[in-house]
Amino acid sequence: MNKRTRLILLALSVIVLTVIGKWVTGDFNFLLNDFWFTSGFLLLILLSLVTQPHFSKDSNIFVNAVTASISLLLVDQSERKFTFWLFLLITIYLAVSSYVIMLLRNKPLPSENKTIQLISRVNRQIGRPEAIFSAFFLWGILMQFGSNTKGFNALLLYWLIFMLLNLPAIANALNSLFEPKETIKEENALGKIFGVQSKNTFLVKLFDERPESTNIFDFVEFKYSIGNKEKVRKGLIVDSYLLNEEQWIKVLTTSEIETIFDGANIFQNHTVDIVYKINQDVNTTYLDRFIGIVTEQSKIDVIRFIYNSRTTISHSSLLEVYVGNKKTKVLYQIVDGTTKIEPLENKNQTGLIIGEAVQLGTWNSEKSQFEKFGWVPQINSPVYISSHIENTPLSATEFLVGSIPETNYPVIIDKTTAITHHTAIIGVTGTGKSIFARNLIREYLKDPDTNVICIDFTGEYIGKFKELNPTKTISDGVSKSLFKKIDDIEIEKGENYNKDTDNTRKLKGEVSKAMFKELKAFLESESSISIFELPDVANSSGVLSYTKTFFRILFHIAKNNGNFGKRVCLVLEEAHTIVPEWNFSGVSDKVGQPLLNSIAQIALQGRKYNVGLMVIAQRTANVSKTILTQCNTIIAFQVFDKTSSDYLSNYFGNEVVKLLPLLKFRQAIAAGKAFKSNIPLIFEVPFIEEPDVIEEEE
Ligand SMILES: Nc1ncnc2c1ncn2[C@@H]1O[C@H](COP(=O)(O)OP(=O)(O)OP(=O)(O)O)[C@@H](O)[C@H]1O
Ligand SMILES: [Mg+2]
Repeated sequence: MNKRTRLILLALSVIVLTVIGKWVTGDFNFLLNDFWFTSGFLLLILLSLVTQPHFSKDSNIFVNAVTASISLLLVDQSERKFTFWLFLLITIYLAVSSYVIMLLRNKPLPSENKTIQLISRVNRQIGRPEAIFSAFFLWGILMQFGSNTKGFNALLLYWLIFMLLNLPAIANALNSLFEPKETIKEENALGKIFGVQSKNTFLVKLFDERPESTNIFDFVEFKYSIGNKEKVRKGLIVDSYLLNEEQWIKVLTTSEIETIFDGANIFQNHTVDIVYKINQDVNTTYLDRFIGIVTEQSKIDVIRFIYNSRTTISHSSLLEVYVGNKKTKVLYQIVDGTTKIEPLENKNQTGLIIGEAVQLGTWNSEKSQFEKFGWVPQINSPVYISSHIENTPLSATEFLVGSIPETNYPVIIDKTTAITHHTAIIGVTGTGKSIFARNLIREYLKDPDTNVICIDFTGEYIGKFKELNPTKTISDGVSKSLFKKIDDIEIEKGENYNKDTDNTRKLKGEVSKAMFKELKAFLESESSISIFELPDVANSSGVLSYTKTFFRILFHIAKNNGNFGKRVCLVLEEAHTIVPEWNFSGVSDKVGQPLLNSIAQIALQGRKYNVGLMVIAQRTANVSKTILTQCNTIIAFQVFDKTSSDYLSNYFGNEVVKLLPLLKFRQAIAAGKAFKSNIPLIFEVPFIEEPDVIEEEE
């Protein structure tokens, strides 16, 4: 019942009481002199105006008792007999005991000791206006008129009607006659605001009587005053919980919610702080985009949010939050989720899901890249799923390797930097490293000035690249004769205490010259891709020498001949077989080291001479760190081993690296120099269809 209703009720009751009074006494003297009228009047006032809506407190009882004892002063001296003293005693007891309890109590009643609970509960029964003032009123009319008189009967009837009829309901009905709108508003009243959290979130205690279906994600309207300004706001119920056996809700307000309703008010004449449920259907995608609100312990680079949404999310989902005074849109990518239980008072609990997301930054659509943002969102800021952006144009050297999962935010690699500053592709078997690498190589080759040499001991590439007519870097015949010479050199050196002779020097010169010729021919030819293979030989130290010489010559050509005008990408497929970490390789350091040195030279200085590496490996542990650390761009598919995770955390950071074992098929993490956005991103590789290779029948 609102104040207006209660006032109407009071006025009507007092008028009726006065009319009856005039009728039974014949004049209006009773208004000032008669005890029965005063107690009846107080009964009406206290019941319908002041205490009824919130009657519960000891202070109410105290006020009732004091008022009651004062009203007793009106009783005529001659009437001050047993009943009078009894009533006086009761009122004094009530006043004193409730005052003492007010001083003693500092906890909610259920947690107080038994005696206080008992006294307080008994006092509440006696101290209710309908108890104490009804007794006074009935006693008053009996004293005044005696039983079975016209006055007694009329006023008894009045009291009966007043007590028995549900007058608030009648008043409500009357009220609605005058103001239909008000009823609608009151019917929708949910509860009252009791607290505000960081300006945009309101704690609301629900009324016992409220619209039946009050659910999470309902929209509400209320009037709230900030400073001395009152403003009507729209909000969304985002949480509901039971606290001290009372139902509470949390209401979020945002400017986005206001715009859903075009700023129009649904209700009129709001009672301040009362929250009304909006019943009309709302046509908006807001709830599909709404994910939750930012919670405590968020930092600039990682935010934490309470997940509270109809929309399903998962790791790598992209989120938007408006940050700072200018409400800049900052994007975050989910990296973790944790469940949590939060204790409420009185053994109640609420369960939460806390999500974690790393900052990618703001999206610069002109540069098509993320740029770090230097501040944290406000607590309780709403978190949304990201919306689509306009398609991004690519320059000639750029390639779209994929996009952030479920979005069209592009992940763009600069092909030139990817080649010259070396790129590593890591992931357990079957994750799609090779298919991704070949796709990238095909992109590299769109530039006529780029040549690719694949060191592929798996034999997989030559078939897969058939449509490009790959050549063999060293043709079969030449490679056979070179091996023969390398064998001869080793044998002759072995006989000469491992020192070079004139003949071995001459043979070495011939090997180098032949390799130079082969490489020169490839770089100057039409063909842009070639495969470096090893002949089937048992001699492993011969293989190492052969490969080592090849890299030496390649570097020599880069340095001295400018690759004959080309940019060269050297692909190391299954890199651990070519450049193993020393403690993993089967061969002794003495033989392995010179080979490693020859590639290290390319890794360290290649970028100056337009030659770069693409290193493909299943794990980082068994690949030479000398080579790996030179890779300025990393693409990691699913990885389980701790050594790789530890190593990759240098590139991705501790938050993102946790996702490595959780990555789904065709998902990878990208970071490094060649990517436009210089921040680790979880992205999705598109489905790659390699050109059909029709096997030729021999
Ligand atoms: N992006 C993709 N599009 C289409 N198919 C894919 C994709 N990624 C992986 N695949 C499928 O997964 C299979 C394995 O891929 P791939 O051979 O590239 O794995 P890998 O990481 O190189 O494994 P290994 O380490 O064993 O060589 C491929 O045959 C291919 O069919
Ligand atoms: Mg492979």
